[in-house]
This record gives sequence, C-alpha cells and structure tokens, in this order.
Amino acid sequence: MGEHPQLRRLHHVEFYVGNALQAEYYYRKAFGFSRSAFKGLETGCQEHCSFVMAQGKVRLVLTASLSPRENAISRFLARHGDGVCDLAFEVDDCAEAFHLAVANGATAVQEPVEERDHNGAVLRAVVQIYGDTVHSFIQHLDYTGPFLPGFTAQDLPGEGVGFRMVDHVVGNQEEGQMEEWAAWYEKVLGFRRFLSFDDKDISTEYTALRSVVMAAPNNIIKFPINEPAPGLKKSQIQEYVEFHGGAGVQHVALLTDDILTTVRQLRANGVQFLEVPDTYYETVTERVGPIKEDLDAIREQRILVDRDDKGYLLQLFTKPVEDRPTLFYEIIQRCGSQSFGKGNFKALFESIEREQQLRGTL
Ligand code: FE2
Repeated sequence: MGEHPQLRRLHHVEFYVGNALQAEYYYRKAFGFSRSAFKGLETGCQEHCSFVMAQGKVRLVLTASLSPRENAISRFLARHGDGVCDLAFEVDDCAEAFHLAVANGATAVQEPVEERDHNGAVLRAVVQIYGDTVHSFIQHLDYTGPFLPGFTAQDLPGEGVGFRMVDHVVGNQEEGQMEEWAAWYEKVLGFRRFLSFDDKDISTEYTALRSVVMAAPNNIIKFPINEPAPGLKKSQIQEYVEFHGGAGVQHVALLTDDILTTVRQLRANGVQFLEVPDTYYETVTERVGPIKEDLDAIREQRILVDRDDKGYLLQLFTKPVEDRPTLFYEIIQRCGSQSFGKGNFKALFESIEREQQLRGTL
C-alpha cells in the first residue's frame, strides 16, 4: 500500500448546470464536443440527467436536476451558478485511494460504493475539496459500457476542434487560502509544488494574484491554485470569489496540437476570447524568439506566446462561459514548454481588467 492514492488519470470533469440539454448544444456546437452517453428519465434515472461530452481524451459531464425539490444540485446552482462540481480521477484501487486520502486529512463525502448495470460495475468514493467541489475516485471493475454504469451510449457527433486532453485545471481560493490547499494536495494526494508565482510576478498597475502550481505524481495533471493579492483595485480572483460564492474552479485548460486551427474553428463557432492588444505583438519576437508557427497567423488569431528554458507555448483564454464572470476555458499548445505563460500574465490581466471595467467590478 502506497502512502498516497494511486491516481491513474483524470477520468472526467463534471458540471452542475441549470439546463443540461441546452449546455450540451453549446458544448457540441461551440466547442465541437460529441455527445457520447446519456443518463436520465429514459434510462430510469428520475432525479437528474447527465450528458457526456467527448473530444480526444476529454470527457465533460453536464448534469442537471430533474426534481422540483431542493437537492445538492439545486443548492449548488443557487449559490454558484453553473460550474464544475467534480474533478473525477480513475484510480487503481478505490478503497485504498479513499482510505489513504482520508487518513491524510481529506474530508469524506462518500465511502466506496459499487455502481452496476448490465455492462458491469465500478467502485466510486468521493472526497471534498475547496468550495462545493469534490474529487471522485473511480475504479473500473468489470465495466465495459460507454461511460459509467447507468449511462446509455448516444452518438451525436460534433465537429471536433482538436482538443486532445485536459492540460490543467485552476482553482480559485479566497484570500489567504492558497497555501492551505497547496498543502492539502501535497499531504492528501502526494502532489508536488511545480511552480509558484507571487504578486510581483503577476500584477498590473491595479490588480494582483498569487498562484502555486501543484503537479500530480506521474504528471498526469497539474492543478494551479490561485488567491487574490491586494492591489489598487479588485483582483480578478476576488471578483471570481464574490460572484461564485467562494472557492471553485476558475478555468479548464484544453490541450491541442494545432492551436491555430483550433482557435480559428472556435471563433467561427462563435466562441469569444479575451482581446489581446495590438501592442502585445510589437514585442513578442524579442520576448520569445523564433517560433515555427507563422507569426502573422498568430497575430491574426490573437494567440499568446511564451517561452521558458524548455521551449515555448501558445495559449488563449475564452471570455467567461457563464452569466457570472466565473468559469472560462484556456486553449493551449505546448512546444516543449511545461510552464503556464507567466510572461503573458501582464498582457492578459490588462485585457481582463478592461472586461472588469465594463462590468463595473474593477
Ligand atoms: Fe491556465
């Protein structure tokens, strides 16, 4: 028995949403996901329905309540609006993962339970993380079905835009809570500190944040953790925390091998991105040196570029995909670089601040 849960991979990201059918359409038409599985009234589930959205190895689960009675989903939605409720891992041994996590200090939500249908069974246990977010630990026993027991296969293809896998998922914390959660990931799940940034790295004239990137064993995923730092005006992290109602997932970064094609398709589908100022491209070559992509095309698609000692990365951020200025997506292509675009933070934050200004929340 190891000291920490043995995590195999990120199994899926689950969202609670107000209307899963409409969210499904948005993720299929705007982001090019395919609907691959469903659970709901037609499959005998009376309480909630879920759509599984697939692209590359990414699995997003969109779940809504079917009940007029107050329940965990309705409480989550009333407080937070649509958002991420579960970052679910596949594990080798669910019982071991759960008991080790709890022994290391995690709060238990659900002891290991067998979920079974005619396709076989999985074991699932759940521990609490920041805000109303959880980690499920899922162990496949003899399950051979389309997603998880209770789901039926559905094939409603989207026009994929090239997402391969989830690169990282960022959690925003309330001020003063970042270190506690960094320590939680070290102690409970055996993550290590990969990088950290303080407010000297990540600040503009007005707003600031602190961030520490926690890396899972075997590098299966990275979870950066942010908190607001005091600035002249309100940090975007503070804005998130106020609108979300506490800590929660700020963005999910999706990895592509061809960001130019991905972003072009997403723009054509109506996805809105943060605006990058013209001035950003005046200095980009001297800042990052040569890249193999055509710089004119990069400029035209307003893609951000950063370099570290191992290579470079290309990235771009959507505007929030909710009514509240909370959850957004990052599109990222890595060309050697394993970092997070520190050199872009300033340009990016100035862009976010322009948006905050428009919302009157700066
Ligand atoms: Fe990111």
